[in-house]
Amino acid sequence: MNGQLNGRASRYAQITGWGMYVPERVVTNDDIARIVDTTDEWILSRTGIRERHIASDARETTATLAVRAARSALRVAGVSPSQVGLVIVATVTPEAPFPSTASLVQDALGASHAGAFDLSAGCSGFVYALSLASDAIRAGSAEHVVIIGSETLSRITDWSDRNTCVLFGDGAGAVVLSACHEECGVLASVLGSDGSGGDLLMVPAGGSRRPASSETVRNGDHFIKMNGREVFRFATTVVPRATEAVVEKAGWQLTDIAQVIPHQANSRIIDSAAKRLGIPEERFFTNLERYGNTSAASVPIALCEAIQQGRIRPADKLVLVGFGAGLTWAAVALKWGMPQPMKRPNWFRRWQASIVFGWARVRSAFLRSERRAYDRVMGPVTDEGIRGRLRLRADRARERAARREQSKLEPPPD
Ligand code: ACO
Repeated sequence: MNGQLNGRASRYAQITGWGMYVPERVVTNDDIARIVDTTDEWILSRTGIRERHIASDARETTATLAVRAARSALRVAGVSPSQVGLVIVATVTPEAPFPSTASLVQDALGASHAGAFDLSAGCSGFVYALSLASDAIRAGSAEHVVIIGSETLSRITDWSDRNTCVLFGDGAGAVVLSACHEECGVLASVLGSDGSGGDLLMVPAGGSRRPASSETVRNGDHFIKMNGREVFRFATTVVPRATEAVVEKAGWQLTDIAQVIPHQANSRIIDSAAKRLGIPEERFFTNLERYGNTSAASVPIALCEAIQQGRIRPADKLVLVGFGAGLTWAAVALKWGMPQPMKRPNWFRRWQASIVFGWARVRSAFLRSERRAYDRVMGPVTDEGIRGRLRLRADRARERAARREQSKLEPPPD
């Protein structure tokens, strides 16, 4: 399964590994009711959320959560980081504007042959990434892609705003998408956007339009602002519409669908979508009760738990559907190709993986110190320095050419 599939005919992209990670700290509705004017009853009845996991200190960031989820996914897939061609991190809470969180994750994994980039499409990000990664694999430009949805929304949440702070949680989910020849994996996708609704869900400052200033910080403009009612209306329309569209594109019927894995924002949105589509509610997987809305991480975390709970069997037809800031929406029709239940990686595989990931840390530290040492030896970059280095390189090339000429003139040994 993980071998090289260089032929482009009948090439598909299926999920071969999955993993998730959430911070240990759990914050319940009652905990939130001690900070803002709300109750457990209000939050549970309006959203379906009981608790969420929240990153506790600076050691838990979007990248560190992503790395843990991705390592689990690689372990399950039995894919070594050096086989990975692309790392995509879907997030609205990157480590910083740049470098991309994906590059930091690529380095931490030791995925030394992989390209890496972040994808920003709000809560739809992971499903967008799944669609793009599948296209990359089917076009032959990658054999294995690591796709991660990772968020630390608690860092951009206004903990004094009861309209938003009750909704969000932190976490990461990841999959390994691999090339295969059987007709399974991602079979159709639908991506959409309507930027006219951009102001309904946003972080107003911190970008090129309103760079950070003491005024933006004072006004709390670096926190999430949301028009909940409008986003709710949008979501209840777009989830059924995108699901229907992707099912039709895949040539399936709604009755064929074994599980819908929707973005976990609000149980009322999910119930409404199930009713509109005429799909029984138990075929919509939900776990938002324990995690809240983890934005781009919610679909892969839900997928992971659905697999772990044995809700997904070989050849099952699934729909993964997301919606969120942008406004954006995305749906993927996926035929499950892996045997279920999967065996837990045995001790040898786990030991092997710990060596590989340990080596990635050593490699990263070596590259950093090599760069520092080189900088110290070479000193500041001046025009004279650059000219000197170019002269040196030209001299060496001349010497090599002369040696080659010399060896041609010498008679061959007897
Ligand atoms: N506790 C108690 N009362 C509250 C709270 C709270 N935490 N929050 C709001 N209220 C009050 C409001 O002030 C309002 O009071 P008022 O009538 O006196 O003004 C009342 O409750 C009703 O408010 P609504 O906004 O109408 O409540 P609604 O039933 O719409 O639920 C909610 C609000 C949960 C935010 C809902 O609109 C929702 O889930 N929207 C979708 C959010 C979403 O899905 N976001 C996803 C994208 S996230 C991303 O991309 C990062």
